[in-house]
Amino acid sequence: MDNAKTVNYSRTTITELMIPSYANFGGKIHGGILLSLMDKVAYACATKHAGTYVVTVSVDNVEFRQPVEVGELVSLHASVNYVGNSSLIVGIKVVAENIKTATVKHTNTSYFTMVAKDDDGKLAQVPGLILENDEDIRRFLEAMKRKEIKISYKSILADAKTTMEIDENVHLLDNEKCIIKRDKDMQSEWV
Ligand SMILES: CC(C)(COP(=O)(O)OP(=O)(O)OC[C@H]1O[C@@H](n2cnc3c(N)ncnc32)[C@H](O)[C@@H]1OP(=O)(O)O)[C@@H](O)C(=O)NCCC(=O)NCCS
Repeated sequence: MDNAKTVNYSRTTITELMIPSYANFGGKIHGGILLSLMDKVAYACATKHAGTYVVTVSVDNVEFRQPVEVGELVSLHASVNYVGNSSLIVGIKVVAENIKTATVKHTNTSYFTMVAKDDDGKLAQVPGLILENDEDIRRFLEAMKRKEIKISYKSILADAKTTMEIDENVHLLDNEKCIIKRDKDMQSEWV
């Protein structure tokens, strides 16, 4: 691992002022604006570490717990938490600051999996990660754990899909907020 890099080497922050054109119909910032900024900071951070072009493969745990307001200064702090062969997991902490009152709120933390590609679009090996303190080690270990959970969750979901019998399970809808007006001959438009 001659070309290994520290976590600090690729640590990246993007800061952007939330202007009125970013607002939704309720006057708060569109979730899509924040997702786009998160994707940008993940790209910059992962590319710095990989030294190649990277693509976004998956995004975990996007939950906006508090709304972001117009006029707030949003900072997205990204660092590489984990590296595999061609993949990297970038942790992103999003904070929003009210610049009049200097109060800061943590809006969410998410994890972007990025994959490094070479100039021909083939998977590229990423450099190793030098873990310099307990925080770096904790994040790497947690990323491994989340990766493991994600793999088992995926197979449970796939299994649930293939074994789902409608007639056997339809009683589960008894207390749900839906009305069944079933026409077995009718096809969904998007199958
Ligand atoms: C992601 C992609 C490279 C995977 O290709 P593949 O031929 O299936 O390759 P592999 O199965 O060998 O996976 C490559 C790496 O991606 C990781 N990976 C693949 N799918 C993943 C997923 N859903 N979540 C997390 N990691 C994933 C694998 O674990 C592997 O990591 P490693 O090299 O560190 O061990 C391919 O699907 C792709 O190019 N997707 C398009 C991505 C893109 O263009 N994004 C932009 C948005 S439009």
